[in-house]
Amino acid sequence: MKHRYLGNSGLAVSRVCLGTMTFGNKSWGCDEATSQALLDAYIDSGGNFIDTADLYSDTESEKILGNILKGKNRDDLVIASKCWFPMNESPNARGLSRKHIIEACEASLTRMNLDYMDLYQIHGPDPYTPIEETMSALDDLVRSGKIRYIGCSNLYAWQIVKANATADKQGGAPFISGQYLYNLIRRDIETEIIPACVDQGMGVLCWSPLASGLLTGKYQGVDIPEPGLRFKEMGHILNDRFIWKEALELVDMVCQIGDELGKNPVTVALSWILKDQAITSVLAGSRSVEQLQPSLEAGEWDLPDEHAQKLTEKLPHEHGYPCDWMKVCLLSNFTKTERVPNRVQRFPPLA
Ligand SMILES: NC(=O)c1ccc[n+]([C@@H]2O[C@H](COP(=O)([O-])OP(=O)(O)OC[C@H]3O[C@@H](n4cnc5c(N)ncnc54)[C@H](OP(=O)(O)O)[C@@H]3O)[C@@H](O)[C@H]2O)c1
Repeated sequence: MKHRYLGNSGLAVSRVCLGTMTFGNKSWGCDEATSQALLDAYIDSGGNFIDTADLYSDTESEKILGNILKGKNRDDLVIASKCWFPMNESPNARGLSRKHIIEACEASLTRMNLDYMDLYQIHGPDPYTPIEETMSALDDLVRSGKIRYIGCSNLYAWQIVKANATADKQGGAPFISGQYLYNLIRRDIETEIIPACVDQGMGVLCWSPLASGLLTGKYQGVDIPEPGLRFKEMGHILNDRFIWKEALELVDMVCQIGDELGKNPVTVALSWILKDQAITSVLAGSRSVEQLQPSLEAGEWDLPDEHAQKLTEKLPHEHGYPCDWMKVCLLSNFTKTERVPNRVQRFPPLA
């Protein structure tokens, strides 16, 4: 398994992270015995990075993780969780207030039987709590030793930059990672989020890298998915998110490239994401060891450039304005010099 540094931090994580949203999920997930088998297979492959959240399976994911981590060398692992979603009816058991962040972190540590978490992420933005309060509460957790690093998920790009500027002003820890929906079908984050993360020295972690299973190719020719499959249970959200004519044509291409290269479509789809060094890790969600294996292969195997290029061009992401303005105006209005200023800035492709 290959490793990458998480953003500009010194934390090395495997480029395939073990997603645990399936752990304890009674409808489309797996039980504790299978979760244990998944963790064992993942660690055996050289993986060191595990992602969970208090919300997953109504806290069961964290509890199962706590049980199955027994006997593992905890310090060899990078364990990440998140807070933000409502944990009960109380108005304070949600969001990013100082009160909730600290309580949620302590509750996660208790459920997982851990003294500390390596990465603690805010699961979304809280429009009702000042960002100063949120960043200072997160920093206090870092200083108290309960967490090592902080990250965010599902924030707008301007919120990422504002949060880190606030942390800087307060002398506190900045976000080192952003966790976002990203796969061959949904490439929205290329426009604003990835450039913001690169600018901020943050690594990008990708959730639903297989479009919740669509990119495995297993729905080709299927009218109604079987019970237990994510698309059967969550179709009300996933169909609109991932399914349209051109997206299905792209899935066909992933399968064809898999056939050509003798690789599972899963390995091809994840490996395409990892071509971009701005991406640190893909979060592999599985409900059996058999499902996990081709994801683990993407931790080692690199998709050849020509195939990556074909996939990139098959369903190009439209960046819209202001990128189309820049295409016309930016390059033509700046003098071409031999040396590019040594600043870390990324724009979506202009050509
Ligand atoms: N920050 C956030 O807001 C957020 C949101 C979502 C997820 N996450 C994180 O990201 C992780 C991954 O997300 P995800 O589960 O949506 O990822 P995904 O890789 O897009 O989907 C995983 C699902 O695809 C199917 N699958 C995977 N490998 C397969 C294989 N080899 N053959 C056939 N089917 C296969 C399985 O579903 P079926 O068997 O049911 O078809 C599996 O549960 C989660 O565990 C969680 O840690 C974060």
